[in-house]
Amino acid sequence: MKVLTLGCAGFIGSHLTGRLLSEGHTVTGVDIYQDKIMEFLGHKCFRFIRQDIRKPGLNLAELTEDADLVIDLIAYANPGLYIKIPLEVFRLNFVENLKIAEACVRHKKRLIQFSTCEVYGKTVVSIMKEDLVNPEDPRYATFSEDSSDFILGHLGKHRWIYASAKQLLERVIHAYGLEYNFNYTIIRPFNFIGPKIDYLPEETDGIPRVFSFFMDALISGRPMKLVNGGLHRRCYTYINDAIECIRRIIENPEGVCNKQVFNIGTPDNEVSIRGLAELMRDIYAEKFPKPGQRLPDIVEVSADDFYGEGYEDSDRRIPDISKARKLLGWEPEWKLKDLLEKTMQYYVTEYMDYYRSQGRSDISTHDIVHKAMEVIP
Ligand code: NAD
Ligand code: UGA
Repeated sequence: MKVLTLGCAGFIGSHLTGRLLSEGHTVTGVDIYQDKIMEFLGHKCFRFIRQDIRKPGLNLAELTEDADLVIDLIAYANPGLYIKIPLEVFRLNFVENLKIAEACVRHKKRLIQFSTCEVYGKTVVSIMKEDLVNPEDPRYATFSEDSSDFILGHLGKHRWIYASAKQLLERVIHAYGLEYNFNYTIIRPFNFIGPKIDYLPEETDGIPRVFSFFMDALISGRPMKLVNGGLHRRCYTYINDAIECIRRIIENPEGVCNKQVFNIGTPDNEVSIRGLAELMRDIYAEKFPKPGQRLPDIVEVSADDFYGEGYEDSDRRIPDISKARKLLGWEPEWKLKDLLEKTMQYYVTEYMDYYRSQGRSDISTHDIVHKAMEVIP
């Protein structure tokens, strides 16, 4: 199959590119960066177009026409950015992504669109806690693709612009399915972790996702910071499990994924952010001790101090994956401690060594954010 992958060099995209090529597909990939896909650049079935999709030069119509399948992963996907550059998050995650979806509609190509579990927003517990008999009941926090409602915060909490942009994109794609018989599959990932997730924040104002902050703290000895006490919970999924599910969605046996939404997540891997910090610190002390190195302190910070005004959080989110189990026979295998250990191993060894050997210790999320800021009109 000829696959057009937009955002092919990101965390998920880089793993997916490797998987697609290993299965014999021909891949055309588009991305601004290439650091995570260096190993594929010479592959005979891989064509890489280094291009910012917002800038002139990309012939989206021709690329779409030429593909059998389009996979769109492009987005700003780090919460720090939703606070700092909300308009640019909307423009990239909705306006630019809509152009890709509409190219697929025009050329009658199947689209796999990456959305997010953030569309589900907060739980009913976060707004009605006092009135509920058992607020800890996991059913309040378990989200299903075709029946759960979406609860987002008020306008002043502009973190939700990301979820809103993704939700609106989902709704428009769904409407094209209704009115134009457009064939799509929407994926809602629930906190994937694995090698190549984000960059470590080498500068204090770098803003990746929590794993990279904690990993950076462990390597540097700076404190691990718990936003608002670290009480919020997430379910973490290892990237290999996720890629296996995505592979089955791409395969689309008997069209079971046509016009469908899929959660991809691991319900059994739920942990509070405080629990995550403690577990990562324990694993680091046990598996990667460095002589004389002091383990970082775990400290509490307010969301305003950490992210700035406008931040609010999903309090708890557990994926209902019964649909992926039933339609795709998929089951995540990686347990939380194992996936953390595996990913930490990568950062402790390969990542640091690779960038040092390239003389590239300058690359950080901080740089990416500043590059992103440069293109804001
Ligand atoms: P990522 O930031 O690693 O990947 C996104 C890629 O898009 C990056 O390589 C980036 O360079 C590229 N990109 C951004 N702007 C671009 C532009 N203007 N032109 C060309 N390329 C551009 O993020 P990820 O974790 O791999 O996420 C991929 C998708 O999955 C995103 O849509 C994200 O919202 C969604 N998602 C991911 C997770 C997760 O657990 N990782 C969870 C929920 C949703
Ligand atoms: C993120 C992004 O919104 C999306 O990419 C995606 O939808 C989602 O991840 C996902 O991976 O599924 P979130 O889980 O909030 O959402 O992102 P993180 O930055 O990893 O934050 C997780 C939790 O850790 C939040 O409660 C945050 O406040 C907290 N945190 C973050 C800390 O306590 N300390 C830190 O140093 C960083």
